[in-house]
Amino acid sequence: MDAKPASASYTEKTEIVLPQHANAIGTAFGGTIMSWVDIAAAVTAQRHCGRVAVTASLDRLDFLAPIRTGDVVRLCARMNAAFRSSMEVEVSVEREDLSGARVLCARSILTFVNIGDDGRPAAVPKLLLQTEDERDRSDAAHRRREARRRRSDR
Ligand SMILES: CC(C)(COP(=O)(O)OP(=O)(O)OC[C@H]1O[C@@H](n2cnc3c(N)ncnc32)[C@H](O)[C@@H]1OP(=O)(O)O)[C@@H](O)C(=O)NCCC(=O)NCCS
Repeated sequence: MDAKPASASYTEKTEIVLPQHANAIGTAFGGTIMSWVDIAAAVTAQRHCGRVAVTASLDRLDFLAPIRTGDVVRLCARMNAAFRSSMEVEVSVEREDLSGARVLCARSILTFVNIGDDGRPAAVPKLLLQTEDERDRSDAAHRRREARRRRSDR
């Protein structure tokens, strides 16, 4: 299986917050943002492994700033690391107003598992690390995986 760079699976998804996406105070409902995060991350994971990948876990979803009705929402999903059958994907969520100004509003870390024809986890291509930033992201993802494993052992 040929290794692939993160650029091959990088995904951008753009949405607009409509009234049906908002809560009672006119900001985006968290569950809607979670769903968009999951979709953007799933596309990245599937672009990397070339097969169906399922969400195994969501380590973090931090809402940093509100997103209001009418805002454009830009979600960027990138591969942080490829393990054996699992992949860590990071998603950043920005709001964009009519002037084009962008503010980081949420960030999430998810793990997806590649599912083979037999319905079992199957090996994924290695991730080619081409920049210092990509190596740092991969190292941090490996540390989070170890922490996850220690937590599940407990
Ligand atoms: C995720 C799933 C495929 C793992 O299956 P499993 O039989 O437990 O697989 P294994 O124990 O062999 O683990 C396979 C890989 O998944 C990883 N994994 C399993 N559970 C995980 C979790 N909760 N978080 C992160 N990674 C996980 C393992 O670390 C392993 O990674 P590796 O191959 O890269 O080393 C299975 O639990 C599943 O189908 N879950 C439901 C997925 C789903 O429906 N998602 C949609 C949510 S609504």
